[in-house]
Amino acid sequence: MIIAIDGPAASGKGTLARRLAARYGLRHLDTGALYRACGLAILRAGGDPDDAGTAVDAARTLDPALLKDPAVRRDDVGQAASKIAARNEVRQALLQYQRDFAAQPPGAVLDGRDIGTVVCPDALLKLFVTASLDARAQRRFKELRESDPHVIYDAVLNDMRERDERDSKRSVAPLVAADDAFVIDTSNRDADDVFHQVVDLVSSRMR
Ligand code: DC
Repeated sequence: MIIAIDGPAASGKGTLARRLAARYGLRHLDTGALYRACGLAILRAGGDPDDAGTAVDAARTLDPALLKDPAVRRDDVGQAASKIAARNEVRQALLQYQRDFAAQPPGAVLDGRDIGTVVCPDALLKLFVTASLDARAQRRFKELRESDPHVIYDAVLNDMRERDERDSKRSVAPLVAADDAFVIDTSNRDADDVFHQVVDLVSSRMR
């Protein structure tokens, strides 16, 4: 059983993916963390995420232990991840890891940008979880403010807008809903409400 969840940053896809994995006893892979781990490795080595060779090297030599490093959540790491993720060779280097993860029993929930379209096109259920730019920026702002009282809302909003644009306009595996994905707008909904809707969807798919 594979559930594919795609969507932009702070749309609520990660929370939903974790809850679904726990509910159905599935493994969970946050594929954004793979790109973030490569971005973090580059920044720590003083490299340039815009450099093609540097990006591809980081993806080919990725240490999966870095996925758990709390520093992958930083906003500068998110930007670096988005830059390197626009390169086809980087995506190819990370593709097999994701497919191998999905193929192991009893199945998995994967969340990212191209799970339903590229990584797991045969998933049992595909979801595209989205929300307005403002709703997503507000969520990220509140999250960041817990550790940094000086964070500026407009900076968070601009950062998110820039990343959305890059992720949706790139030529390889852009952020887009698969034709057979169920689209969920979480702008004005809470996580419980969305979770229960998706549990109903899974039940009807399994019947
Ligand atoms: O989901 P996230 O914000 O942690 O992802 C960080 C960046 O990684 C995102 O801006 C684009 C890239 N990414 C991707 O291109 N494909 C994926 N499947 C997951 C993430």
